[in-house]
Amino acid sequence: MIVEVEEVIKRFKDRLALDCLSLAVESGEVVGLLGPNGAGKTTSIRAIVGLLAVDEGTVSVFGKRQDGRNKEIKRRIGYVTQELTIYEEMSARANLEFFGGLYDLTGDRLRERVEAVAAVLGLDGRLDDRVNTYSGGMKRRLNIGCSLLHEPELVIMDEPTVGIDPQSRSFILEFVKQLAEGGTSVIYTSHYIEEVEAVASRIYIMDQGHMIASGTLPELIARIQGDSHILVDVRIASEDVRQQLRGIPDITDVVLEENQYHIVVPGGISVFDQIIPLLAPLTIVNINSKQPDLEDVFLTLTGKQLRDAV
Ligand SMILES: Nc1ncnc2c1ncn2[C@@H]1O[C@H](COP(=O)(O)OP(=O)(O)O)[C@@H](O)[C@H]1O
Ligand SMILES: [Mg+2]
Repeated sequence: MIVEVEEVIKRFKDRLALDCLSLAVESGEVVGLLGPNGAGKTTSIRAIVGLLAVDEGTVSVFGKRQDGRNKEIKRRIGYVTQELTIYEEMSARANLEFFGGLYDLTGDRLRERVEAVAAVLGLDGRLDDRVNTYSGGMKRRLNIGCSLLHEPELVIMDEPTVGIDPQSRSFILEFVKQLAEGGTSVIYTSHYIEEVEAVASRIYIMDQGHMIASGTLPELIARIQGDSHILVDVRIASEDVRQQLRGIPDITDVVLEENQYHIVVPGGISVFDQIIPLLAPLTIVNINSKQPDLEDVFLTLTGKQLRDAV
């Protein structure tokens, strides 16, 4: 176990920021921490990194109790903060050298790591340019790079894609997957559902300091047992086919309106193999389907939309 947070309570004056929060990260997994602004994601992370003392409960990292003083733990973590912590007036290389120096990297080893990190983050052509000439996406990538120089075993990224272009965003998401393939454990926080769906092998959903659900994406979706809806437009529909579709055990309901079949199936079940042969003779014009997703999970568990939950 890389990280174990057990029943942690953290108050800021009379505000309960973490309310009996538990979570665990196993070696080599990407854990997604999803929740609206104010849910307690950054507070949890600061407790894991050792920058914040909790009021109750325990935080262990690499099997040792996190008390904020253990240098050995600190060395094995790369923390990418939500706010950019890079120096705008300096070049990217100077930034990387500075942050590498904080982890006691020097000389050839430091130069080597700076080049390697810049290359994986696609900054190698612009390494000697000042950061204030960089785009938002490049700054974000540099901000990530500054936390990777010491080759941490656990990388924690706090909303690393806020305010960047879609290309840099997909670059970062792809990069997170590569980190995990290389054996690095990752905690990735976001209030964007699509990002967490894309990178995380396991997801924790937070709201108001609580952990409201956790599991893999299919497990979370199975929990809400939402229905999937398949809409099939055909050239000329037939009532016979509607009845044949209705006879498929996995199908809950079939409604025929004009030339459109509206087929309802329980979430997570695929019926395409069974329905296509029945529908093909009618000439399929269009098929649309909506599977329940994380948005539906959040909505079901909290009664509110993630994006307006703030
Ligand atoms: N240093 C602090 N002092 C007082 N309140 C804080 C502090 N840090 C966070 N909070 C409060 O704790 C709650 C959780 O915040 P945070 O962990 O930053 O959420 P998130 O990262 O999910 O947006 C919020 O209500 C926030 O206002
Ligand atoms: Mg935050």
